[in-house]
Amino acid sequence: DTEAAQASFDAIIEQDSRIEPRDWMPEGYRKTLTRQISQHAHSEIIGMQPEANWITRAPSLKRKAILMAKVQDEAGHGLYLYSAAETLGTPRDVMFEQLMSGKAKYSSIFNYPARSWGDMGAIGWLVDGAAICNQVPLCRASYGPYGRAMVRICKEESFHQRQGWEILYELSHGTPEQKQMAQDSVNRFYGPALQMFGPPDDESPNSQQSTAWNIKRFSNDVLRQRFVDMIVPQAEALGLTLPDPDLKWNEERGHYDFGELDWDEFFGVIKGNGPCNAQRLERRIEAHENGAWVREAAAAYARKQAEAAEA
Ligand code: 3HC
Repeated sequence: DTEAAQASFDAIIEQDSRIEPRDWMPEGYRKTLTRQISQHAHSEIIGMQPEANWITRAPSLKRKAILMAKVQDEAGHGLYLYSAAETLGTPRDVMFEQLMSGKAKYSSIFNYPARSWGDMGAIGWLVDGAAICNQVPLCRASYGPYGRAMVRICKEESFHQRQGWEILYELSHGTPEQKQMAQDSVNRFYGPALQMFGPPDDESPNSQQSTAWNIKRFSNDVLRQRFVDMIVPQAEALGLTLPDPDLKWNEERGHYDFGELDWDEFFGVIKGNGPCNAQRLERRIEAHENGAWVREAAAAYARKQAEAAEA
């Protein structure tokens, strides 16, 4: 009965052990995980767009090969995550529909344009760096398929961050124009990267319950602070600055203080009003439609295999 099932679920959470797809789970747990994992999957898939935009313009064959590998990794991450979300009962085509109709969210960061080659560096260093900070604790999320998917994803994200860092380092040690390009990219991506961690804790409606269920291990603000503390010395090593006049070491707290972020901008972007929201969705729909023949061919092939097996 439900009471016994709930008690067994509570015991698994209490022991910090894992819930698997076959286990009973409260509807709210299933719903919040489906929400978070599908949003995460959508982010990976939409996140391919700003970088794919630069594949044809990468400055060398080596850079092009690295960038292609990275964009393919994002596609793979999206697929692991859709698979993990599907184990909770929502079919993939329903999740696709939610994305394409604009009903589902995906990370705010991917609604900003990638204007220069320097942006490939800033996205790798800051965006993938923030993603790692947020996602390493998710490897211990209580839902088995999500935690296991995150382990592979985090390994690949580390390579992504390293390649971004290296692009910025080269630019920052190049001509004055190249250094300026790198600085301009960091200036534009710094604030939006910090917003990836989500709204401030007192405006984060899902945090409390997700923490109680061992999905979230640290709050949005705690992870944001961890990220700032990590990137300040990295920016120094790059020879670049971070665009925040309030950024200062606080001896007492043992952390860097930083300025208030533009939360009006953030809420505008997640409502659909960022600089690239419309374009990102349009491209996704177009790609989905152009891929119809692949899905049809795969379904026809599967049908034929099944018929052959029956015969
Ligand atoms: N962009 C868009 N929406 C955001 C957001 C952001 N940066 N931050 C929060 N939100 C949304 C939440 O989804 C939630 O909306 P909903 O209730 O309608 O679903 C609302 O704002 C309130 O925020 P909460 O803090 O209450 O929400 P969560 O508890 O879910 O915390 C989160 C937000 C920290 C982003 C959490 O969902 C999370 O850790 N998600 C997994 C990581 C993820 O999705 N990363 C995506 C970007 S990284 C990436 O894609 C990799 C890159 O290499 C391509």
